[in-house]
Amino acid sequence: MIDLNGISLRNRLITSSSLLGYGAPKGRFAVLGLSPISNFVDLRRFGAVTVRTVTTQPREGHFTLKESWRVSEIPELLRLYRGALQEADAGWLNAFGWSNIGIDRYFDEYFPRTTEQNRILSLGGFSADEFASLVERVNSQAPSGSLAAVEFNVSCHNVNFDFNPIIEEVLKRAVPASRFPVILKLSPDFDYLAHARLAEANGVAALSAINTVKGLRLDPKSGAPLLKNRYGGLSGRAIKPIGLRVVSELREAGIRLPIIAGGGVRTFNDVREYGWAGADAASLGSEAWLKPLWSMPLAPLHGLHIRRLIRQVEGWSPR
Ligand SMILES: Cc1cc2nc3c(=O)[nH]c(=O)nc-3n(C[C@H](O)[C@H](O)[C@H](O)COP(=O)(O)O)c2cc1C
Repeated sequence: MIDLNGISLRNRLITSSSLLGYGAPKGRFAVLGLSPISNFVDLRRFGAVTVRTVTTQPREGHFTLKESWRVSEIPELLRLYRGALQEADAGWLNAFGWSNIGIDRYFDEYFPRTTEQNRILSLGGFSADEFASLVERVNSQAPSGSLAAVEFNVSCHNVNFDFNPIIEEVLKRAVPASRFPVILKLSPDFDYLAHARLAEANGVAALSAINTVKGLRLDPKSGAPLLKNRYGGLSGRAIKPIGLRVVSELREAGIRLPIIAGGGVRTFNDVREYGWAGADAASLGSEAWLKPLWSMPLAPLHGLHIRRLIRQVEGWSPR
Protein backbone atom coordinates (compact mmCIF):
# COMPACT_ATOMS: atom_id res chain seq x y z
CA MET A 1 0.00 0.00 0.00
CA ILE A 2 1.12 3.53 -0.80
CA ASP A 3 0.04 6.33 1.51
CA LEU A 4 -0.39 9.69 -0.19
CA ASN A 5 -1.17 12.07 2.67
CA GLY A 6 -3.93 9.79 3.99
CA ILE A 7 -4.98 8.40 0.59
CA SER A 8 -4.25 4.66 0.41
CA LEU A 9 -3.38 3.37 -3.06
CA ARG A 10 -2.57 -0.24 -3.93
CA ASN A 11 0.19 0.98 -6.24
CA ARG A 12 1.05 4.22 -8.02
CA LEU A 13 -1.04 3.62 -11.14
CA ILE A 14 -4.68 4.59 -10.88
CA THR A 15 -7.31 5.17 -13.56
CA SER A 16 -8.66 8.63 -14.36
CA SER A 17 -12.24 9.58 -13.72
CA SER A 18 -14.77 8.10 -16.11
CA LEU A 19 -12.54 5.93 -18.25
CA LEU A 20 -13.71 2.79 -16.45
CA GLY A 21 -17.22 4.11 -15.95
CA TYR A 22 -18.67 3.20 -12.57
CA GLY A 23 -16.20 0.31 -12.16
CA ALA A 24 -18.63 -2.43 -13.21
CA PRO A 25 -20.70 -3.19 -16.29
CA LYS A 26 -24.42 -2.56 -16.24
CA GLY A 27 -25.27 -6.25 -16.60
CA ARG A 28 -23.15 -9.31 -15.99
CA PHE A 29 -20.86 -8.82 -18.97
CA ALA A 30 -18.61 -5.87 -19.70
CA VAL A 31 -20.21 -4.78 -22.92
CA LEU A 32 -22.17 -1.68 -22.03
CA GLY A 33 -20.71 1.23 -20.15
CA LEU A 34 -17.30 -0.25 -19.50
CA SER A 35 -14.02 -0.42 -21.37
CA PRO A 36 -13.35 -3.65 -23.26
CA ILE A 37 -10.05 -3.90 -21.38
CA SER A 38 -11.99 -4.62 -18.19
CA ASN A 39 -12.60 -8.09 -19.63
CA PHE A 40 -8.85 -8.68 -19.68
CA VAL A 41 -7.51 -6.62 -16.76
CA ASP A 42 -8.49 -7.28 -13.16
CA LEU A 43 -9.58 -3.83 -12.00
CA ARG A 44 -8.56 -4.72 -8.44
CA ARG A 45 -4.95 -4.52 -9.62
CA PHE A 46 -5.04 -0.76 -10.18
CA GLY A 47 -3.80 1.50 -7.39
CA ALA A 48 -7.37 2.82 -7.47
CA VAL A 49 -10.20 3.15 -9.97
CA THR A 50 -11.66 6.65 -10.23
CA VAL A 51 -15.38 6.49 -10.88
CA ARG A 52 -17.07 8.70 -13.48
CA THR A 53 -18.06 12.11 -12.09
CA VAL A 54 -21.45 11.85 -10.40
CA THR A 55 -23.79 14.74 -9.67
CA THR A 56 -26.67 15.23 -7.20
CA GLN A 57 -29.22 14.36 -9.93
CA PRO A 58 -28.94 12.19 -13.07
CA ARG A 59 -27.77 14.22 -16.11
CA GLU A 60 -28.06 13.49 -19.81
CA GLY A 61 -25.30 16.00 -20.57
CA HIS A 62 -24.52 15.99 -24.30
CA PHE A 63 -25.01 12.25 -24.54
CA THR A 64 -27.82 10.01 -23.28
CA LEU A 65 -28.90 8.07 -20.21
CA LYS A 66 -30.76 5.47 -22.22
CA GLU A 67 -29.32 2.08 -21.30
CA SER A 68 -30.88 -0.55 -23.50
CA TRP A 69 -30.57 -0.31 -27.25
CA ARG A 70 -32.19 -2.50 -29.87
CA VAL A 71 -29.94 -3.58 -32.74
CA SER A 72 -31.90 -1.30 -35.08
CA GLU A 73 -31.08 1.66 -32.82
CA ILE A 74 -27.30 1.15 -32.95
CA PRO A 75 -26.83 3.80 -35.70
CA GLU A 76 -28.54 6.34 -33.41
CA LEU A 77 -26.22 5.33 -30.54
CA LEU A 78 -23.17 5.73 -32.80
CA ARG A 79 -24.45 9.15 -33.89
CA LEU A 80 -24.70 10.23 -30.25
CA TYR A 81 -21.19 8.92 -29.61
CA ARG A 82 -19.81 10.85 -32.56
CA GLY A 83 -21.40 14.02 -31.20
CA ALA A 84 -19.71 13.50 -27.83
CA LEU A 85 -16.39 11.88 -28.72
CA GLN A 86 -14.02 12.13 -31.69
CA GLU A 87 -10.51 10.94 -32.31
CA ALA A 88 -8.48 14.06 -33.08
CA ASP A 89 -4.86 15.01 -33.59
CA ALA A 90 -3.04 12.36 -31.55
CA GLY A 91 -5.72 12.42 -28.92
CA TRP A 92 -9.43 12.48 -28.27
CA LEU A 93 -11.89 15.32 -28.05
CA ASN A 94 -14.89 14.65 -25.82
CA ALA A 95 -17.86 16.52 -24.50
CA PHE A 96 -20.11 14.10 -22.65
CA GLY A 97 -21.06 16.98 -20.34
CA TRP A 98 -21.18 14.93 -17.13
CA SER A 99 -23.64 12.45 -18.55
CA ASN A 100 -24.19 10.29 -15.45
CA ILE A 101 -26.80 8.37 -13.49
CA GLY A 102 -26.55 10.54 -10.37
CA ILE A 103 -25.06 9.76 -6.98
CA ASP A 104 -28.08 7.84 -5.61
CA ARG A 105 -28.14 5.30 -8.42
CA TYR A 106 -24.36 4.96 -8.21
CA PHE A 107 -24.66 3.95 -4.55
CA ASP A 108 -27.61 1.66 -5.21
CA GLU A 109 -26.39 -0.10 -8.34
CA TYR A 110 -22.60 0.02 -8.58
CA PHE A 111 -21.09 0.68 -5.17
CA PRO A 112 -22.12 -2.73 -3.74
CA ARG A 113 -20.69 -4.52 -6.81
CA THR A 114 -17.25 -2.90 -6.73
CA THR A 115 -16.28 -3.39 -3.08
CA GLU A 116 -13.11 -5.32 -3.97
CA GLN A 117 -11.68 -2.39 -5.93
CA ASN A 118 -9.87 0.51 -4.33
CA ARG A 119 -12.18 3.34 -5.35
CA ILE A 120 -12.00 7.09 -5.74
CA LEU A 121 -15.36 8.73 -6.31
CA SER A 122 -15.43 11.84 -8.49
CA LEU A 123 -18.02 14.44 -7.54
CA GLY A 124 -19.24 17.27 -9.76
CA GLY A 125 -21.41 20.25 -8.92
CA PHE A 126 -22.12 23.87 -9.81
CA SER A 127 -22.16 25.40 -6.31
CA ALA A 128 -20.78 24.92 -2.80
CA ASP A 129 -24.27 23.75 -1.79
CA GLU A 130 -24.18 20.96 -4.35
CA PHE A 131 -20.71 19.82 -3.26
CA ALA A 132 -21.78 19.95 0.39
CA SER A 133 -24.79 17.77 -0.32
CA LEU A 134 -22.72 15.32 -2.41
CA VAL A 135 -20.22 14.98 0.43
CA GLU A 136 -23.04 14.47 2.92
CA ARG A 137 -24.44 11.71 0.73
CA VAL A 138 -21.03 10.01 0.48
CA ASN A 139 -20.55 10.28 4.26
CA SER A 140 -23.86 8.58 4.90
CA GLN A 141 -23.57 5.88 2.21
CA ALA A 142 -19.91 4.85 2.21
CA PRO A 143 -18.62 2.99 5.28
CA SER A 144 -15.21 4.05 6.65
CA GLY A 145 -12.40 2.72 4.50
CA SER A 146 -14.67 1.89 1.57
CA LEU A 147 -13.33 4.74 -0.58
CA ALA A 148 -9.70 5.81 -0.89
CA ALA A 149 -10.80 9.40 -1.53
CA VAL A 150 -13.33 11.64 -3.19
CA GLU A 151 -12.20 13.82 -6.09
CA PHE A 152 -13.71 17.23 -6.72
CA ASN A 153 -14.18 17.92 -10.40
CA VAL A 154 -14.26 21.68 -10.74
CA SER A 155 -12.15 21.68 -13.86
CA CYS A 156 -14.28 20.27 -16.67
CA HIS A 157 -14.92 22.42 -19.73
CA ASN A 158 -17.64 20.57 -21.44
CA VAL A 159 -20.35 21.50 -18.94
CA ASN A 160 -19.88 25.13 -20.06
CA PHE A 161 -19.62 26.57 -16.57
CA ASP A 162 -17.03 28.89 -15.04
CA PHE A 163 -15.86 27.12 -11.87
CA ASN A 164 -13.35 29.82 -10.87
CA PRO A 165 -15.76 31.87 -8.76
CA ILE A 166 -16.99 28.88 -6.73
CA ILE A 167 -13.79 26.93 -6.06
CA GLU A 168 -12.80 28.64 -2.81
CA GLU A 169 -16.23 28.31 -1.23
CA VAL A 170 -16.53 24.68 -2.41
CA LEU A 171 -13.25 23.85 -0.67
CA LYS A 172 -14.04 25.82 2.48
CA ARG A 173 -17.39 24.08 2.95
CA ALA A 174 -17.03 20.62 1.49
CA VAL A 175 -13.45 19.61 2.41
CA PRO A 176 -13.87 19.81 6.21
CA ALA A 177 -17.27 18.11 5.91
CA SER A 178 -15.86 15.04 4.11
CA ARG A 179 -15.04 11.90 6.09
CA PHE A 180 -12.79 10.85 3.18
CA PRO A 181 -9.61 12.56 1.94
CA VAL A 182 -10.29 15.02 -0.88
CA ILE A 183 -8.41 15.24 -4.18
CA LEU A 184 -8.74 18.45 -6.20
CA LYS A 185 -8.58 17.95 -9.97
CA LEU A 186 -6.88 20.83 -11.76
CA SER A 187 -7.44 22.25 -15.22
CA PRO A 188 -4.52 23.43 -17.35
CA ASP A 189 -6.83 26.17 -18.66
CA PHE A 190 -7.57 27.72 -15.24
CA ASP A 191 -5.18 29.33 -12.76
CA TYR A 192 -3.97 25.98 -11.44
CA LEU A 193 -1.28 27.51 -9.23
CA ALA A 194 -3.87 29.63 -7.42
CA HIS A 195 -6.19 26.63 -7.13
CA ALA A 196 -3.39 24.45 -5.76
CA ARG A 197 -2.63 27.10 -3.13
CA LEU A 198 -6.32 27.21 -2.19
CA ALA A 199 -6.23 23.42 -1.93
CA GLU A 200 -3.24 23.53 0.42
CA ALA A 201 -4.88 26.19 2.56
CA ASN A 202 -8.16 24.30 2.85
CA GLY A 203 -7.14 20.78 3.83
CA VAL A 204 -7.19 19.04 0.44
CA ALA A 205 -5.12 15.82 0.62
CA ALA A 206 -3.78 15.64 -2.95
CA LEU A 207 -3.98 17.19 -6.40
CA SER A 208 -4.87 15.52 -9.64
CA ALA A 209 -3.32 17.12 -12.70
CA ILE A 210 -4.53 17.47 -15.39
CA ASN A 211 -8.10 17.39 -16.59
CA THR A 212 -8.64 17.63 -20.35
CA VAL A 213 -7.55 20.72 -22.29
CA LYS A 214 -10.30 22.78 -23.92
CA GLY A 215 -10.26 22.24 -27.67
CA LEU A 216 -12.20 22.63 -30.90
CA ARG A 217 -12.34 20.78 -34.21
CA LEU A 218 -14.38 21.80 -37.23
CA ASP A 219 -15.31 20.00 -40.41
CA PRO A 220 -12.84 21.58 -42.88
CA LYS A 221 -15.42 21.61 -45.69
CA SER A 222 -18.49 22.93 -43.90
CA GLY A 223 -17.08 24.57 -40.77
CA ALA A 224 -19.51 22.57 -38.64
CA PRO A 225 -18.11 21.61 -35.22
CA LEU A 226 -17.30 17.92 -34.87
CA LEU A 227 -18.88 17.80 -31.42
CA LYS A 228 -22.45 18.64 -30.49
CA ASN A 229 -21.19 21.00 -27.77
CA ARG A 230 -18.81 22.72 -30.26
CA TYR A 231 -15.96 22.73 -27.71
CA GLY A 232 -14.61 19.64 -26.04
CA GLY A 233 -11.84 18.42 -23.76
CA LEU A 234 -8.70 17.13 -25.46
CA SER A 235 -7.11 14.05 -23.89
CA GLY A 236 -4.53 11.43 -24.82
CA ARG A 237 -0.94 11.64 -26.00
CA ALA A 238 -1.47 15.10 -27.52
CA ILE A 239 -1.66 16.63 -24.03
CA LYS A 240 1.22 14.86 -22.28
CA PRO A 241 3.66 17.80 -22.59
CA ILE A 242 1.00 20.09 -21.11
CA GLY A 243 0.46 17.73 -18.17
CA LEU A 244 4.21 17.57 -17.56
CA ARG A 245 4.45 21.36 -17.65
CA VAL A 246 1.64 21.74 -15.10
CA VAL A 247 3.15 19.19 -12.67
CA SER A 248 6.59 20.75 -12.99
CA GLU A 249 5.27 24.29 -12.51
CA LEU A 250 3.31 23.23 -9.42
CA ARG A 251 6.54 21.92 -7.89
CA GLU A 252 8.53 25.00 -8.97
CA ALA A 253 5.88 27.14 -7.25
CA GLY A 254 6.54 25.24 -4.02
CA ILE A 255 3.33 23.20 -3.89
CA ARG A 256 4.00 20.29 -1.49
CA LEU A 257 0.77 18.28 -1.78
CA PRO A 258 1.05 14.87 -3.44
CA ILE A 259 0.27 15.03 -7.16
CA ILE A 260 -1.49 12.30 -9.10
CA ALA A 261 -0.45 13.06 -12.65
CA GLY A 262 -2.31 12.24 -15.80
CA GLY A 263 -2.56 13.39 -19.37
CA GLY A 264 -1.40 11.08 -22.13
CA VAL A 265 -0.03 8.29 -19.94
CA ARG A 266 0.37 5.14 -22.05
CA THR A 267 3.67 3.52 -21.12
CA PHE A 268 5.97 3.01 -18.16
CA ASN A 269 8.27 5.71 -19.54
CA ASP A 270 5.36 8.17 -19.42
CA VAL A 271 4.90 7.31 -15.74
CA ARG A 272 8.63 7.78 -15.07
CA GLU A 273 8.62 11.10 -16.90
CA TYR A 274 5.77 12.37 -14.74
CA GLY A 275 7.72 11.14 -11.70
CA TRP A 276 10.75 13.23 -12.67
CA ALA A 277 8.48 16.25 -13.17
CA GLY A 278 7.29 15.94 -9.57
CA ALA A 279 4.38 13.48 -9.52
CA ASP A 280 3.81 10.88 -6.80
CA ALA A 281 1.46 8.65 -8.78
CA ALA A 282 0.15 8.43 -12.32
CA SER A 283 -3.27 8.13 -13.80
CA LEU A 284 -4.32 6.20 -16.88
CA GLY A 285 -7.05 7.98 -18.82
CA SER A 286 -7.75 7.60 -22.54
CA GLU A 287 -5.35 4.65 -22.75
CA ALA A 288 -7.66 2.67 -20.47
CA TRP A 289 -10.54 2.86 -22.86
CA LEU A 290 -10.35 4.93 -26.01
CA LYS A 291 -9.35 3.03 -29.09
CA PRO A 292 -10.71 3.28 -32.63
CA LEU A 293 -13.65 0.94 -33.20
CA TRP A 294 -11.70 -1.14 -35.73
CA SER A 295 -9.18 -2.09 -33.06
CA MET A 296 -11.72 -3.45 -30.55
CA PRO A 297 -10.88 -7.08 -31.43
CA LEU A 298 -7.34 -6.31 -30.24
CA ALA A 299 -8.62 -5.65 -26.70
CA PRO A 300 -6.97 -8.83 -25.30
CA LEU A 301 -3.57 -7.56 -26.49
CA HIS A 302 -4.28 -4.15 -25.10
CA GLY A 303 -5.21 -5.85 -21.82
CA LEU A 304 -1.78 -7.56 -21.81
CA HIS A 305 -0.10 -4.19 -22.26
CA ILE A 306 -2.02 -2.67 -19.33
CA ARG A 307 -1.29 -5.65 -17.07
CA ARG A 308 2.41 -5.31 -17.86
CA LEU A 309 2.26 -1.58 -17.17
CA ILE A 310 0.69 -2.22 -13.75
CA ARG A 311 3.46 -4.72 -12.91
CA GLN A 312 6.13 -2.22 -13.96
CA VAL A 313 4.61 0.56 -11.87
CA GLU A 314 4.30 -1.78 -8.88
CA GLY A 315 8.09 -1.95 -8.79
CA TRP A 316 8.59 1.79 -9.17
CA SER A 317 8.88 4.75 -6.88
CA PRO A 318 9.30 8.30 -8.14
CA ARG A 319 12.59 10.23 -8.10
C1 LIG B 1 -14.41 10.18 -22.60
C2 LIG B 1 -13.86 10.91 -21.42
C3 LIG B 1 -14.68 11.19 -20.33
C4 LIG B 1 -14.18 11.87 -19.22
N1 LIG B 1 -15.00 12.12 -18.16
C5 LIG B 1 -14.48 12.71 -17.05
C6 LIG B 1 -15.29 12.90 -15.90
O1 LIG B 1 -16.47 12.52 -15.85
N2 LIG B 1 -14.72 13.52 -14.84
C7 LIG B 1 -13.42 13.92 -14.82
O2 LIG B 1 -12.95 14.46 -13.81
N3 LIG B 1 -12.63 13.74 -15.90
C8 LIG B 1 -13.14 13.14 -17.00
N4 LIG B 1 -12.33 12.94 -18.08
C9 LIG B 1 -10.91 13.36 -18.03
C10 LIG B 1 -10.01 12.19 -17.64
O3 LIG B 1 -10.32 11.71 -16.36
C11 LIG B 1 -8.51 12.61 -17.68
O4 LIG B 1 -8.31 13.58 -16.69
C12 LIG B 1 -8.12 13.18 -19.04
O5 LIG B 1 -8.67 12.38 -20.07
C13 LIG B 1 -6.62 13.28 -19.24
O6 LIG B 1 -6.00 12.03 -19.21
P1 LIG B 1 -5.63 11.19 -20.54
O7 LIG B 1 -4.89 12.10 -21.45
O8 LIG B 1 -4.81 10.05 -20.03
O9 LIG B 1 -6.91 10.73 -21.12
C14 LIG B 1 -12.82 12.28 -19.21
C15 LIG B 1 -12.00 12.00 -20.30
C16 LIG B 1 -12.50 11.33 -21.40
C17 LIG B 1 -11.58 11.05 -22.54
